[in-house]
Amino acid sequence: MEALKNTRLFVPALPTLWPGMLLGRGEPSGFMPFSAPNVRWFYFARNAVWLTVKMLGLDKGEVLMPAYHHGVEVEAVADAGATPRFYRVGSRWDVDVEDVERRIGPNTKALYLTHYAGFPGPAEEMRRIADKHGLPLIEDCALSLLSADGSVPLGTTGDIGIFCLYKTLPLPHGGALVVNGPRQYSLPEPPTPPITSTLSHTLSALLQNLELRGGRFGRGLRGFIRSLGKGAVKAADIQRVATGTQHFDRRHVDLGMSPFARRIAQAQDLEAIVERRRRNYFFLLGRLRDVSPPLFNQLPAGVSPLFYPLVVEDKAEVLARLHARGIEAIDFWRHMHPACDASAFPEVMQSRRSIVEIPCHQDLSPEVMAEVALVVRGALTQDRRTRKHAG
Ligand SMILES: Cc1ncc(COP(=O)(O)O)c(C=O)c1O
Repeated sequence: MEALKNTRLFVPALPTLWPGMLLGRGEPSGFMPFSAPNVRWFYFARNAVWLTVKMLGLDKGEVLMPAYHHGVEVEAVADAGATPRFYRVGSRWDVDVEDVERRIGPNTKALYLTHYAGFPGPAEEMRRIADKHGLPLIEDCALSLLSADGSVPLGTTGDIGIFCLYKTLPLPHGGALVVNGPRQYSLPEPPTPPITSTLSHTLSALLQNLELRGGRFGRGLRGFIRSLGKGAVKAADIQRVATGTQHFDRRHVDLGMSPFARRIAQAQDLEAIVERRRRNYFFLLGRLRDVSPPLFNQLPAGVSPLFYPLVVEDKAEVLARLHARGIEAIDFWRHMHPACDASAFPEVMQSRRSIVEIPCHQDLSPEVMAEVALVVRGALTQDRRTRKHAG
């Protein structure tokens, strides 16, 4: 235990890029959105959200969205000209479908369902409500790539499925808009992004891999190359379109996905990725359930978890402890979009105060997961002790 106290882990929030992936040529994949007949590729998922509003003619109408949201998808809907309205989501990420139906009004033009971190929302029930009211259903799978509800892949029940690729796969960028059913829309092919941006993100993911595999030496080398790289980016005035940002930026709405990023996506063994994510999730569930009540007590068939949602009392403190030990845990969705009245959704506010993302992605070996579990347990028990003393 003492030895562990002194070691610094490197547990990146997102999977890293293994050099072999740059050369690999995968088989065509059966997973969504790669298998979809009608798909457009984008730089981000937010571009697909924006275009969906335009394509379905929802601007000037209202879109009924979950009160538990990231915020950038709400910004994209609003920027495209629609008015977001909100429905209730419970403390276990359970969509209140009765509330959805109650809130449908004369100006409602579409229903928006988000699948949280790979865990399926009630797509069938939302489909039924949408059909009953003659509304399109938008399925947001930005956090749920490769995930299914049993044998039904997420993103296939709605009229539209929206995906983010770079949160689950080690890509420099990538999002997708899938149109399900017979309706045809003439969609422009989005232009490829600046090559400098693609290369800069690719290099970052390769350097992360170096640190992951190379321990202290890899960390030193990564630090050195990063400092050189920062100077070069500045000196050459390289355009780098950041991914994973909190806000929608209209200047990037037309950006598409590069063939290079699609090629890396093709080189992935997607089935193995799902398997590893599930293995790592189960491991954390087993090791953490006695110190923090799990949000989900099991992992239903088909689910590919994006991360392990850890319920904590003091987010800031637990995050600081995990970061200090090298675990890139993330503060999950702390903020409500200002268009949504926080006082009307107390359970959502409680979720926003208490959930931390613990990485469980495909790069993390069972040995690393064992260390992650130990560090998280330590952070939680320390948090509790501090609170006791304060009380
Ligand atoms: C639910 C949801 N939808 C859409 C997005 C936008 O994804 P992207 O960063 O690919 O634009 C996010 C981003 O985190 C999200 O959480």
